[in-house]
Amino acid sequence: MKKELTAKELKSKFLEFFRERGHAIIPSAPLIPEHDPTTLFISAGMHPLKPFLLGQPHPQGKRLADVQRCLRTGDIEDVGDDTHLTFFEMIGNWSLGDYFKKEAITWSYEFLTKVLGYDPGKIHVTVFAGDKDAPRDDEAANTWLSLGIPKSRIYFLPKEDNWWHSGETGPCGPDTEIFIDSGKPKCGKDCRPGCGCGKYFEIWNNVFMEYNRTKDGKYEKLAQKNVDTGMGVERTIATINGKKSVYDTELFIPLIKLVKESAKKHDEKSIRIIVDHIRAATFILGDERGVAPSNVDQGYVLRRLIRRAIRHARLLGIEKGLLKKLAIEVIKMYSDDYPILARKQGFVLQELEREENKFLNTLDRGLRMFEKLSRNKKELSGKDAFLLYQSYGFPIEMTVELASEKGLKVDVSGFNEEYRKHQELSRASAQKKFVGGLADTSEASIKLHTATHLLNEALRRVVSKDIKQRGSNITPERLRFDFNFHRKLTKEELKKVEDLVNEQIKKGLPVRREVMTFEQAKALGAQAEFEAKYGDKVSVYFIGDFSKEICAGPHVKNTKELGTFKIIKEESVAAGVRRIRAVLL
Ligand code: SER
Repeated sequence: MKKELTAKELKSKFLEFFRERGHAIIPSAPLIPEHDPTTLFISAGMHPLKPFLLGQPHPQGKRLADVQRCLRTGDIEDVGDDTHLTFFEMIGNWSLGDYFKKEAITWSYEFLTKVLGYDPGKIHVTVFAGDKDAPRDDEAANTWLSLGIPKSRIYFLPKEDNWWHSGETGPCGPDTEIFIDSGKPKCGKDCRPGCGCGKYFEIWNNVFMEYNRTKDGKYEKLAQKNVDTGMGVERTIATINGKKSVYDTELFIPLIKLVKESAKKHDEKSIRIIVDHIRAATFILGDERGVAPSNVDQGYVLRRLIRRAIRHARLLGIEKGLLKKLAIEVIKMYSDDYPILARKQGFVLQELEREENKFLNTLDRGLRMFEKLSRNKKELSGKDAFLLYQSYGFPIEMTVELASEKGLKVDVSGFNEEYRKHQELSRASAQKKFVGGLADTSEASIKLHTATHLLNEALRRVVSKDIKQRGSNITPERLRFDFNFHRKLTKEELKKVEDLVNEQIKKGLPVRREVMTFEQAKALGAQAEFEAKYGDKVSVYFIGDFSKEICAGPHVKNTKELGTFKIIKEESVAAGVRRIRAVLL
C-alpha cells in the first residue's frame, strides 16, 4: 500500500518548495490577534500580514511562506460534515509587491502535480468573471490554459465566489481557487466547483491582492500588487490520501479513537463535533495569548466550543474526563510545531476541567428548564433562549440544536437582541464577532499605537522595570494595554506615567524603524511580547531614545502628531494582570 503523506511532510515539502524559490519562512502568528478589535481570532494567513500587504516593509523581505494557525467559527453549524473544521492550519506563500499571477499559479500547479503528485486531470479551477469594479481575470485563466488545464475545467465566477475580502475594508482582490475532483458523480447539471455537494474539494486559494476596498465600498488600486495564497492542511491531506473526509486522516484518527473508547453510543456527527471543538479549544487555551473561558470575546467562543463538545459527549453516554485526554493527545501531536502548547499544558487541562465541572453543575437543571420552556411550543422565543444562556450557560447554538432535535425553531435574532441589551455596545452581538475582519489602520489607530509604545516604556520607568506587555487592543477611539503587575497603581503613579508620555510627545521625538535579528534586538534591550515567537529578522521601532520595541507597525513619523495623552481607567483583568485604557485628546 502506498505510504500516506502526513501533515508534517506536507508542511515541510511546501515550505521547502517555496524556500527554494526565494521565500523566507516566517513563524505562525498566535491565534489571538494583537491590536485588532475587529476580529477575535486569526482566520486566514493574511490577517497577521495585513500591514505588509498595505505597504509596510516586512523585515524578512518580499517573498514569504508560512504555516498559520486559523480559527473560523462562522461555519460552526457545518462542523461534523466531511470538510468543515473550526481550527485548521493554513499554509501559504506571499508576494509583497514582488511576483504576481503567472509565477503564483505556475508554482501552485507545479507543487500540486510534481511535488504532491496530484493527477492534473483531476484539477478544476475557478477564476474571477469580472464586473463593474474589476475586469475578468484573463491573465489567470490564460496561465491555467498554458499549463494544460483545458477550458472545460476553468470556471468563471462572480465576486461572491472569486473575490477575497479580508473584512469590510482593506486589501482584497480576485482569486483563483483550486479544486480536486473526488470522482463522485455530479449532484445535478449545474454542479461545479464550489457547489458544496462534496464532488469538488477546495484545497488552495490564490488571491491577487491589488485592490483596497474603502469605507464607501469603492475599489482602489493598492500601491503594490500582492499574492496571498492559502492551502488548508487538513483538506489537502485528506484528498491526497484519497480520504472521504478530513476526519479520516491521521490528524483525527487518534482523537476519534479516544472518543469511541469512552462512548456508550455511536453517532458520527457528535464524535466529529467533540474532536473538532476540543482540538480548537486546546489551541485557544494553549495560545501565546491564550485566554480562559469567560462570557466575553475570545473567552466566550472558547466556552461555547467546550460546552457544545460536553453536550455531545453526554449524548454519547460519556460522563467525564474525556476532554483532558483529547487535549493531551492534541498537545502531543502538535507540540513539535508549537512548543507553547506543551508549556501551557497545565493551564489547558486545568481550564478544561474547571469549565467541565461548571457546566455539568448546571446542565441537568438547564435541560429540565428547556423541557419546560419548549412544552406546547413551535418556537422558542429569544427571551427563552436568553434565559437558558444566562441562567444555565447554554450557548445559543446548543439551544438551537436541542430545539431542532424536537422539531422546534428558536428566534435567534430575538436572542441576539436580548444578548445585546445585556452587553456593552462594543461587545455587541456574538454573531458579529465571528465574522472575520482586520486591524484598522486609520490615522487615529496608528497614533494610539505609537502612544501604546510610549505608555509601555513609561510604565517600566515609573512603576517597575519588570513590566511587560500582556495584551493590546486598539480602536480609533482608545487604546487598551494589559501588563503584568501585582497591585493597583496609585493615583500618583498614573499621573507620573501620563506626564512622562506627554513629555515625550512634546519633545517631538522621531519614530524610526530598523530591521535586525531577534538576538540583536534582544541585546539592544528592545521590548518583545511575552511568549511570542519571532522570525529570523524583526522590525524594531525606536521612539527617539526613549523606547525600543519589536513591532510590525504602523506608527506615526514623529510623536508631536499625537496630541495629549490621557489615562481614563486602570483596573485588574486577571490575577497579576492590570489593564489601562487611555485616549489621545
Ligand atoms: N486569504 C485567502 C484564504 O484565506 C488565501 O490565503 O483563503
